[in-house]
Amino acid sequence: MNPCKPLVLFALLFVAPAFADTIAIIGTGDVAKALGPEFAAQGHTIIYGSRNPGGDKAQDLVKISGKDASAVSPQEAVIDADIVVLAVPGLLVGEIVKGLGDLSDKIIIDPTNPLERRILTFHHAVETSNAQIIQAIAPDAYVVKAFNTLNWRTMIDPDATGGPISIPLAGDSRRAKKVVAKLVEGMGLEAIDVGGIENAHWVEGMLMLWINNRFSLRESFDFHLRKVE
Ligand SMILES: NC(=O)c1ccc[n+]([C@@H]2O[C@H](COP(=O)([O-])OP(=O)(O)OC[C@H]3O[C@@H](n4cnc5c(N)ncnc54)[C@H](OP(=O)(O)O)[C@@H]3O)[C@@H](O)[C@H]2O)c1
Repeated sequence: MNPCKPLVLFALLFVAPAFADTIAIIGTGDVAKALGPEFAAQGHTIIYGSRNPGGDKAQDLVKISGKDASAVSPQEAVIDADIVVLAVPGLLVGEIVKGLGDLSDKIIIDPTNPLERRILTFHHAVETSNAQIIQAIAPDAYVVKAFNTLNWRTMIDPDATGGPISIPLAGDSRRAKKVVAKLVEGMGLEAIDVGGIENAHWVEGMLMLWINNRFSLRESFDFHLRKVE
């Protein structure tokens, strides 16, 4: 772990943030567990949206996500949220977003990858991406593709990789990308703006090589991006 990170976390916990958002995190799996406590440490209020908000998984997350954290249904979680994180299975994200209700004017962070662990096919061979599908379902929201190019362990301990880690952000709203970049930087990661939402297709496609090797006889590897100074 970066020796500076405890200091950063201390500052974030005890120095009032310039702004504090309410962040709904839909899902209570590995990515939710990585991002929720990190965003809480930056002074934001976290609401988990879970199919079982009273269950141990959701309640254990609430306990480590700041004093104002809570868990409710996905539909309830988004109502007062400024930012919505879709930490859900990639192939279900369209259906899940349709069930969330009105997402107008909210920033949606999309960390999903359009694959199912046991299926070795990338589901959007050409043209589209999960981020574009979400943007089409919620046209008045500001979708930002982020966090899908690294595993959850690296999200919370980037220095274990031996240097800074960059997070590509794809989306049509510069303002939304700036807000997400601030969250990224608060975690000790670096943000890179890779352009409009159409580029989410390529950012999502990065996982294809990984999944091909991971589930074949070829060698497996991990990957992440590092900005060139
Ligand atoms: N794991 C990683 O390292 C990693 C890294 C980058 C990106 N991603 C992507 O981020 C997304 C989330 O990954 P994850 O590893 O956090 O997944 P996960 O551990 O499987 O968690 C997904 C969560 O989605 C919720 N969910 C809602 N509807 C669901 C349904 N019908 N079936 C199953 N779960 C449902 C569940 O929360 P409730 O039970 O509380 O509703 C579940 O905990 C995926 O698209 C993945 O490809 C993962």
